[in-house]
Amino acid sequence: MRTPLQDAVGGYLAKGRAWFHMPGHKGQGDGAFAGILPWDVTEVDGCDSLFHADGPIDLLERAFSEVYGTRRTLLCAGGATLCIQTMLALACGTGRKLVISRNIHRSAINACALLGLDPVWVYPEQDAGGWFLGRYAPGAVEQALAAHPDAAAVYITSPDYFGVMSDLPGISEVCRAYRVPLLVDNAHGAHLPFLPDRYGCPHPIACGAALCGDSLHKTMPAMTGAALLQIGEERFSAEAKRMMSMFGSTSPSYPIMLSCERALGYAQEGAAEGFARTAARLDSLRVLAQEHGFALPLGRVDPARLTLGFGALGWTGQAFGDYIRGHGIEPEYISGSACVFLANGMNPERDFVRLEAAIKGIAPKGNPAPVKPVLPHPVRVMGVREAAFSPQQRIPVGQALGRVAAAEASPCPPGIPVVMGGERIGHNEQEALRFYGVEEVNVVSGPVERLFRI
Ligand SMILES: Cc1ncc(COP(=O)(O)O)c(C=O)c1O
Repeated sequence: MRTPLQDAVGGYLAKGRAWFHMPGHKGQGDGAFAGILPWDVTEVDGCDSLFHADGPIDLLERAFSEVYGTRRTLLCAGGATLCIQTMLALACGTGRKLVISRNIHRSAINACALLGLDPVWVYPEQDAGGWFLGRYAPGAVEQALAAHPDAAAVYITSPDYFGVMSDLPGISEVCRAYRVPLLVDNAHGAHLPFLPDRYGCPHPIACGAALCGDSLHKTMPAMTGAALLQIGEERFSAEAKRMMSMFGSTSPSYPIMLSCERALGYAQEGAAEGFARTAARLDSLRVLAQEHGFALPLGRVDPARLTLGFGALGWTGQAFGDYIRGHGIEPEYISGSACVFLANGMNPERDFVRLEAAIKGIAPKGNPAPVKPVLPHPVRVMGVREAAFSPQQRIPVGQALGRVAAAEASPCPPGIPVVMGGERIGHNEQEALRFYGVEEVNVVSGPVERLFRI
């Protein structure tokens, strides 16, 4: 059975039952909803149940597990966010310390707050070129683990938003030596197993990760919210569903799960060809981009993602955004100095032709030196949880000196936060926030209720 879930839902629809069950639309859609609402069933007879799967959903999860080479794979309709909450809870429980790369996504910061986790930050190297933040080195992780032997896990985000990939095999070796599990935010890397081997970008589970969260919807042909929790170490299997159900909705979306099945079909057939073609096409655009003066991230990067450092040509984010949209292109993300384009086999050749024309047509506005990223190491005075659940107020950065951040303040998400919740805003932090153009920050407003100590 290649599409067990679609067959099950299709079989249910074919019975023509009267819908005296949720959802309230009763499968009656018109306009844009005509095609989708009949498939938006709930956990009815024959259609399985996500958190107690023993039918088509279970088959789907087993097939995913085989494709990704995991101990177990869990389907998820709540994005990588839900996978991240689940893996942090599984590996750390509550109130524990863990070693975390500073490029952490907001979903993980929130999970740390919910679970009362105590992060020990690891900062990136400068090994991706002047315009980009670099990788998280095994040596830096080892140092953090040696200084914090009570850490419950290591948590790394790789690839990052710009496609920069850290040395996960090296970090995994360190984790093994210190007997802690490696957790990877692989939100941007669900497609990694389908890239040609020559790029050397294996999936985190193949690198030795104990757990990772993949956003299927970011790089594979699945609907927004589709994700996979990948389990590499057997000891996390038994409790994984229960833990995911603690954070997720009890009514998972069937259209999203059906779209996971579609992505599985693509993974089994088509993805290898599609990503090989995409990576080769983007390789040619990378050469062209370099010839035209763009900066590219150096070292190992995801080849299915094109990151163009337009800052090296003297362009601003606003001007480059206008320029690229003028070529009929909507990118994934534009920072102050670089633009990220996501591609896969679903992009027709005409998309790449537009990109090519835009790269060829760029005219330098100067030749500025790379702006060195400013990354202060703020002092933590309060737990992430305590800060997140404290009364807070939003104030201008100019008035924030000496105050405690209530939440992370980033240059422009997904930039690395200058301060995290619970960290004091000193002179360096205030300067860095100004440097990145951050105008306001959330700070803890006193007197702080000390209900949520970590
Ligand atoms: C690095 C990273 N991790 C996690 C997430 C959350 O993923 P999702 O939107 O699938 O919940 C994102 C979303 O952009 C992300 O960029």
